[in-house]
Amino acid sequence: MSPMLCSSFVFAILAFARSLSAEVITRDVAIIGGGATGTYAAISLKDQGKSIVIVERKGVLGGHTATYHDPATGTPINYGLQVYYDDDQSRAFFARLNITPGQGTFPNNKTPLYIDFNDGAPILGYSVPTIGDDYIRELHKYPYIENGIELPDPVPEDLLLSWEKYLEKFNLSDEAIATYSRPAVAGDLTKMLALYVFNNLNTVQLEEELNGKAIANANGDFAELYRNALKELGSDVLLNSTVVSGERGSKPSEGVKLCVKTPEGEKQIVAKQLIFAAPPVLDNLDVLGLDKRESDLFSKFSGGFYYTGVVTNLGLPTDHSYVNRAQHTPWHVATLPGTVMFNPTSVEGTYYYWYTSLEGMSQQQVESSTRDTLKLLQRSVNGSNINAEPNFVAYNSHTPLHPTADADSIRAGVYRDYYGIQGYRNTWYTGSLLVTGSPQLWNITSQLLPKIIAASEQ
Ligand SMILES: Cc1cc2nc3c(=O)[nH]c(=O)nc-3n(C[C@H](O)[C@H](O)[C@H](O)COP(=O)(O)OP(=O)(O)OC[C@H]3O[C@@H](n4cnc5c(N)ncnc54)[C@H](O)[C@@H]3O)c2cc1C
Ligand SMILES: *[C@@H]1O[C@H](CO)[C@@H](O)[C@H](O)[C@H]1NC(C)=O
Ligand SMILES: *[C@@H]1O[C@H](CO)[C@@H](O)[C@H](O)[C@H]1NC(C)=O
Ligand SMILES: *[C@@H]1O[C@H](CO)[C@@H](O)[C@H](O)[C@H]1NC(C)=O
Ligand SMILES: *[C@@H]1O[C@H](CO)[C@@H](O)[C@H](O)[C@H]1NC(C)=O
Repeated sequence: MSPMLCSSFVFAILAFARSLSAEVITRDVAIIGGGATGTYAAISLKDQGKSIVIVERKGVLGGHTATYHDPATGTPINYGLQVYYDDDQSRAFFARLNITPGQGTFPNNKTPLYIDFNDGAPILGYSVPTIGDDYIRELHKYPYIENGIELPDPVPEDLLLSWEKYLEKFNLSDEAIATYSRPAVAGDLTKMLALYVFNNLNTVQLEEELNGKAIANANGDFAELYRNALKELGSDVLLNSTVVSGERGSKPSEGVKLCVKTPEGEKQIVAKQLIFAAPPVLDNLDVLGLDKRESDLFSKFSGGFYYTGVVTNLGLPTDHSYVNRAQHTPWHVATLPGTVMFNPTSVEGTYYYWYTSLEGMSQQQVESSTRDTLKLLQRSVNGSNINAEPNFVAYNSHTPLHPTADADSIRAGVYRDYYGIQGYRNTWYTGSLLVTGSPQLWNITSQLLPKIIAASEQ
């Protein structure tokens, strides 16, 4: 490989000058993406004596974790991630980062009003059923999609049915249809493949939701885990930084070089192995210089469009949550794009909301659409103040969320190819392509690390 990767002529001169002041970062493992899995990998690798560097695009670690602090009281309001599965590994990770665990609870303890957010009409007589036995019976048919997507060959055709077709084929009851009321799912759930419904609402998720097997920061501040991780990792984390270009050798001894744009200028990373812990879609991967095998595989995946935020001064009675349901669709599935719900928080009058769409949206578009919804709700919910002007105080984009592939690609073996490409060109992939919840992703990541360590020692 060429000795100088950050390669423009001007940069080559600058890089030469800077190389005198340690602009080349040499590590065992480079990690792209400092969310749940990238941060976990970094801490574990350091604890096992490996040197690491994280390249994170945002100004914080933690990915889908989003915490807003109420300015008047300092109360933390989590408007992204809500709970963790309570298992040994989560508790060990909490302990490692000095987090005191408490019981994880789902925040929505106020009576929901189900309303069609397109016209403000209440959905009368509707309530969300509890997930029932017929769903669980179906789920248990497919243990190989509980902790990753390790499909048999051929892939069972039933898993490739859209969820509405699956419900119809197996004549599932309202209790299975309760899956339609789950919020953190991007896009149109009726069209989602059964495979992804089961992978998302799996046994672990059910134990969290139905049996309370969930933990959270006792102090309610979810971002603390990632702030503590950042303190621990210090200058091994490059925040507000992205990879500009990369070179990856075909043998372990040839390693990886990355040119990274940081707030302090470009830096070069020289590492033995690379972990890709950001969503593995072409928009994120292209800078690495994909070959045909890689681009054929990753072009099959695309993520959902999901946005979250915090809003005050809604003008609505504060003793309810407000949930979007459509009047005239089967099972009242909400139509897109739109706000999924407004949930009250422990600060009276402050709500968090989630929003999903079938295409990319800007913050301004999401907030303006959400404001229109609130003005509509003010006019249709009794006891509202129609003069209140909503105040948007926090926002986060979760796009692209949980990348998925279409039925044809899955039939053709896209997940077999995904598992097969691990380690190829010194690059390893982890993250929410495989399962939704952070603790399960930590589990999957920890199973991958011994292989990465072995490759880094070759
Ligand atoms: C609204 C919402 C609520 C959720 N609630 C829960 C919950 O309660 N419990 C739970 O267990 N799970 C929850 N999840 C699931 C969540 O996706 C996972 O728990 C977990 O965050 C996924 O980890 P990850 O490392 O794959 O991705 P992320 O945590 O998203 O990490 C990816 C990181 O990569 C960074 N990045 C992206 N592109 C680039 C790039 N090109 N270069 C550099 N960095 C990049 C991102 O900024 C991000 O920090 C929720 C998800 C959403 C959207
Ligand atoms: C990252 O960018 C944000 C927004 O521009 C800024 O507030 C923050 O200080 C930056 N952090 C670092 C470490 O560069
Ligand atoms: C579908 O299930 C319902 C009960 O949930 C039952 O009454 C009905 O006969 C079933 N239909 C078929 C075709 O099996
Ligand atoms: C609002 O109040 C009116 C008059 O009191 C009542 O008829 C109507 O049913 C109420 N609407 C809702 C959604 O409760
Ligand atoms: C990971 O999950 C599997 C079950 O899917 C479990 O047997 C194993 O103990 C878990 N590993 C850790 C480290 O928690």
